[in-house]
Amino acid sequence: MTPQPDAIRGATITGTGMYVPEKRLTNADLERMVDTSDEWIVERTGIRERRIAAPEQASSDLALVACQRALDAAGLTADQVDCILVATTTPDRILPSCACTLQQKLGATRAVAFDMFAACTGFVFGLSIARSMIAARTSEVVLVVGVETLSRVVDYTDRNTCVLFGDGAGAVVMQPCAAGEGLLAIDIHSDGELGGVLEIPSGVSANPPSAATVAAREHFIRMQGKKLFPFAVRTMEDSLRRCMERAGVAAQDLEMVISHQANLRIIDAVRERLGVPPDKVPINIDRYGNTSSASIPISLDELVREGRIQRDDLIGFCAFGGGATWGASIIRWTMARMPSPDGVAVPGTRLAATEQRA
Ligand code: ACO
Repeated sequence: MTPQPDAIRGATITGTGMYVPEKRLTNADLERMVDTSDEWIVERTGIRERRIAAPEQASSDLALVACQRALDAAGLTADQVDCILVATTTPDRILPSCACTLQQKLGATRAVAFDMFAACTGFVFGLSIARSMIAARTSEVVLVVGVETLSRVVDYTDRNTCVLFGDGAGAVVMQPCAAGEGLLAIDIHSDGELGGVLEIPSGVSANPPSAATVAAREHFIRMQGKKLFPFAVRTMEDSLRRCMERAGVAAQDLEMVISHQANLRIIDAVRERLGVPPDKVPINIDRYGNTSSASIPISLDELVREGRIQRDDLIGFCAFGGGATWGASIIRWTMARMPSPDGVAVPGTRLAATEQRA
């Protein structure tokens, strides 16, 4: 019998979840730590407070809660997951991966698990890998997680960076769907020439940890924010436009554009260039700061649970980050909304009937 090549099938989000730690670090708190002001931070970044992980919380602990919530929303249990992709710049440890630690805590014993290092674009990269794995039929249930404990790598003596970052986790469950549904387009890029613009200089193979690297504060984030700003605006707009072209949709067709939350002025500039009204571009940077790879899935889960995303809505994602990395995606939403007061979404689309028979 002649082998039949696998039919290309779609991939969609069937559950979302997020978690942020309890502790808030406000602008007033930062005023007591470095030479800054609430007025400067709000005007230049839009941030009012960020969440900080408790000393006993590692990235995998934040991710665990977000994943449990996403699985609940999808109506699935951990033993049904067959792949865990963790996007992070702040894993628990370099070895083992954060994803393997999460797999153990979640009890997802069947799942293959690995980390992705793509900074703030990591979640979008994760969607791309998940879609490819589902299309290739190597996975049926994929958890894509963005998680950061950036407070562990922020230098709280450096006012240029310490006002920006926060901790949190967001997760989605991805499953097969009919072609033409779910993820319609994805666009991802990297440019290593820009590596020095945002970096943690020491700690692994290039500059192993030593007393000298600790004394020079080289285990903390260093950033040339001014160089990143125009790059962020241009790349997020370009990438989302490429996705719109591939999906055959216009900016006006997008019900929501969920941007990486790095700076309110960057988000506003992208929105204006795309010609999208403010009510279609959700903002939570005021409450969480920049949570890097977690910022898009955190926003997404908030919108889903508030009932602001409906079945068939076209949703755009766009992100940029250290590396440099950038990317975008467009999804046709397939989850229905539960008609209950808490607004929790019901399990999403499963395999289309034709595909279940295949
Ligand atoms: N409080 C008070 N003053 C400050 C602070 C602060 N927290 N930080 C900087 N300043 C000062 C600077 O020292 C400078 O003073 P000077 O003129 O005397 O030298 C002045 O404010 C202006 O500084 P700029 O850097 O020009 O300020 P800018 O308007 O560019 O805002 C910012 C800085 C917020 C960092 C902005 O450039 C930005 O958001 N860039 C993008 C950064 C980003 O998104 N990074 C994340 C990448 S994603 C990832 O992968 C993690």
